[in-house]
Amino acid sequence: MQPTLKTRPLVLSGFMATGKTTCGRALAGRCGVPFVDVDEEIEREANRSIADIWAAEGEPGFRAREQAAISRILEARAPAVIAVGGGALVDGATRRRVLDRAIVVTLEADVDTILARASAGAVRPNLGGPDPRARAVSLLLARREAYAEAHAVMRTDDVDVDTVVDACHRLWTEDPLLLPLGARSHAITFVRNKPNRLTDALATLGPSGVVVVTDSNVHRARHAWLDAALAPLAIEPVVVTLPPGEPNKTLATVGTIWDAALGAGIDRDAVVLAWGGGVPCDMAAFAASTLLRGLRLVAAPTSLLGMVDASVGGKTGFDHAAGKNLIGSFWQPSQVVIDVDHLATLPTRERAAGLAEVVKIALALDAGLLDTLDAARGAWRTLPPEDLLPVIRRAVELKIRVVSDDERESSTRAILNLGHTIGHALEAATGFARHLHGEAVAIGLVAELEAGVRRGVTPAALATRIRHLLAAIGLPTDAAPGELARARAFLHADKKRAGGRIRLPVVTEAGRVTMDSVGLAAI
Ligand code: GLY
Repeated sequence: MQPTLKTRPLVLSGFMATGKTTCGRALAGRCGVPFVDVDEEIEREANRSIADIWAAEGEPGFRAREQAAISRILEARAPAVIAVGGGALVDGATRRRVLDRAIVVTLEADVDTILARASAGAVRPNLGGPDPRARAVSLLLARREAYAEAHAVMRTDDVDVDTVVDACHRLWTEDPLLLPLGARSHAITFVRNKPNRLTDALATLGPSGVVVVTDSNVHRARHAWLDAALAPLAIEPVVVTLPPGEPNKTLATVGTIWDAALGAGIDRDAVVLAWGGGVPCDMAAFAASTLLRGLRLVAAPTSLLGMVDASVGGKTGFDHAAGKNLIGSFWQPSQVVIDVDHLATLPTRERAAGLAEVVKIALALDAGLLDTLDAARGAWRTLPPEDLLPVIRRAVELKIRVVSDDERESSTRAILNLGHTIGHALEAATGFARHLHGEAVAIGLVAELEAGVRRGVTPAALATRIRHLLAAIGLPTDAAPGELARARAFLHADKKRAGGRIRLPVVTEAGRVTMDSVGLAAI
């Protein structure tokens, strides 16, 4: 049977002699699509060998030809397997361009395997010189971060070609997104009712133990899915079932994760699995970042908010009486597995709260997504999970763009705080108990938009449009009397405050946002 292929090409990258051509030809044959070897394209075009081009034009001349060839091949936008040279994606701008348009797999092999294969094959100009091993080791070191920025990294020295082809083929049909962050890069995979996808994500890491962090609501509704995901691993997991809800997002609750994990004797090869909505995801990730000075993390969010926001971008933490998320860390997962079928049992109020984050990112970055949300309005509350998938994927794609440019929120990531300055203050002012996070964000969005209208930067019609959209989704758009006044005191605890001013995202039109420094009195 012909496999279902996505339209993006699959690019095989990695050091020379890691098997790109062999695996690429086999994969293309399996899928019935063309195989393109960029080095062969360059040679055909120049009517000269790669070695001759290096001799005549040096590395800069070769790289210029290589980049032009890659751009041209990707321009065709057709499914194909493309093998690129070992240094082709080292340049950051070229790599990001390719990652935007293709699924990228880095193939890896030990230096001994590489040297053995290279000496048996064609002339390798980049491995010339008196000490090919030293040259290979130094190139591999220099390219380590670039090679890690791929949808998957696969070893080829101790596995057969079919195994690599199978893995590439599965990845291609899954069509994951990638958060490219050098060595912290990871894939975000979207599936429907596939607990075994989580099994694979965990198994790939070869964990010595698994610490599952969830809450009692999620565990009650979805435990059969979790059991199905964990059973094939044959590892007795440590399951930490937290009390649900934002009021429990505290140091004391994080302490219960530490206690359970350490009490079970986990070691540094254990993996923390964040399995739940935004609250357990944030605390699980914080616990992962601190246990034994940092454990690997896999996120499998079960709520809409967890899928579109909490599990993407590496923010972790918990609340403090002084304010929301005031203590935390940045800690990226090794993989994110989003199974949208979890949404089938998510309460409507929780779904609406997640949609607030989707409205936020659309309002800030994508007028088209905002139109999509507006087209179905209240129907988003009840549509089956699969109908939400394109919207979830788009929201994640947008967030990835922001986070990959500014992981630690030193500048542009702050636009994701749209609606959150007032939203967070409102949550803190009401003891984290009255509003779900997304509900507070909805009220915050309207309040911040209306503040923008008063300052003459946000169109009044847009503020009205968002108010109506949020209300149609079933979200609150106004705080109760006195709540906003009480929230004002908590603006002073906001992480983005400096003196009497705060850096606030300001919407100038649908899908467009800028950062502004606003006096606290003007909010
Ligand atoms: N939730 C905002 C962020 O991840 O930056």
